[in-house]
Amino acid sequence: MAGYVVVGTQWGDEGKGKIVDVLAKDVDMVVRFQGGNNAGHTVVVNGEKTILHLLPSGILSPNALCVIGPGVVVDPAVLISEMEVLKSHGLKLDHLRISDRAHLIMPYHIKIDALQEGRLAQNKIGTTKRGIGPCYADKYTRIGLRVGDLKDFEYFKMRLKNVLAIKNEIITKVYDEKPFDYDELVETFRTYKKILEPMIIDASYDIDKALKEGKNILFEGAQANMLDINYGSYPYVTSSSPTSAGVLTGVGVGPKALDHVIGVVKAYSTRVGEGPFTTELLDENGERLRTWGNEYGATTGRPRRCGWLDLVVLKQAVRINGLTDLVLTKLDVLSRLDEIPVCVSYCLDGKEIDYLPSTTAECERLEANYVMLKGWKKDISKAQSLNDLPKEAQDYIHFIEKESGVKIALISVGPDRNDNIITKNFF
Ligand code: GDP
Ligand code: IMO
Ligand code: MG
Repeated sequence: MAGYVVVGTQWGDEGKGKIVDVLAKDVDMVVRFQGGNNAGHTVVVNGEKTILHLLPSGILSPNALCVIGPGVVVDPAVLISEMEVLKSHGLKLDHLRISDRAHLIMPYHIKIDALQEGRLAQNKIGTTKRGIGPCYADKYTRIGLRVGDLKDFEYFKMRLKNVLAIKNEIITKVYDEKPFDYDELVETFRTYKKILEPMIIDASYDIDKALKEGKNILFEGAQANMLDINYGSYPYVTSSSPTSAGVLTGVGVGPKALDHVIGVVKAYSTRVGEGPFTTELLDENGERLRTWGNEYGATTGRPRRCGWLDLVVLKQAVRINGLTDLVLTKLDVLSRLDEIPVCVSYCLDGKEIDYLPSTTAECERLEANYVMLKGWKKDISKAQSLNDLPKEAQDYIHFIEKESGVKIALISVGPDRNDNIITKNFF
């Protein structure tokens, strides 16, 4: 039995979806533990691309039971349409389950997300406008509705009536917008109940049982360390804990369930949305990384901000997640550069520091200290072993390992499931 966690070490979009898909063929369960359809996880199999927002990225592996865990926030409309798309491609979804404790993203959460961003104006977070923040806020103020509530539909209706009265007051009186109609919402959710009810489980119970039976379980993180509600660049973060610690509360397992904590790091940096980004490139270098890496949001289509690799950010992810292994992705994207700057520390008000300050004001004053590494200027997208890589590419890998103190178990050199150099066998 072993528990594996895959987490993002930067600002998201490191290639977690691809890595979860690669590992999924050897595990019995893949469990999402936080976030919602703000995530966009891309899986490419024989050139065919699938973007998953709520379904775990193990869904294309029929032998892995896929669970949307208790810590996830679920927009049923998005979930059902994602299921429909996969079914239309001939995929059976008998291996999908949803936790009874996962919270429901309601249409008013999506509305309030957009309205609040509008009011924040130039101080907006740059959210995905999927209702994530308002849904988690309701969870913690204890006025959320949960997937399991759909099973007792009279109870669900009673709770909805109560909560909707509050939400409609906010929507009409604070934002001067049209209220939601209770009867319409009830009918919409009655339809969702019929589709989702057969898949509802007590995830914590089932996962514990699977672990005791000696099964391999893979916990799939969405977002990343720098978007963590506690340790990210607050307030420019998401509303959950995308760290390994998030698995414990987001699934309902103890710390001993986590044997391998795998951090995914892109060979350079990207960020979507607002917030400080010290190594950001606002010149043609950023434009080139965006083009070569096809850096456009898998969820919103927004161009991703691009910059050099930041090892201070990576080291923070190593510390907070207790990473045992790294996976390096998109190394192929750097293949055309003569030299590659890597940030190893910052300068804050004339002083060198090797950590991330907590305030936005300080983070915006940071200047990156770079080490220049040599480029390799060769196509590496067909490499299958470390020996296939030019020496300069191997040096880049070893530099990351030395600085972070964590070994790289897999190097991804292309988007496809098979475009990998595997340096450690997990199973
Ligand atoms: P996630 O949110 O962490 O799952 O990452 P996304 O799917 O949002 O973004 C990663 C993008 O990079 C996707 O378009 C992937 O298909 C692509 N990708 C993943 N690994 C590699 C790689 O090693 N090389 C290249 N060129 N593309 C990759
Ligand atoms: P994956 O799982 C990149 C960003 C948004 C915004 C901030 C808050 O694909 O890596 P939210 O909608 O969560 O309230 O937005 O977080 N963000 C992501 N950026 N990848 C993601 O997910 C993200 N999920 C949220 O752009 O800056
Ligand atoms: Mg993504």
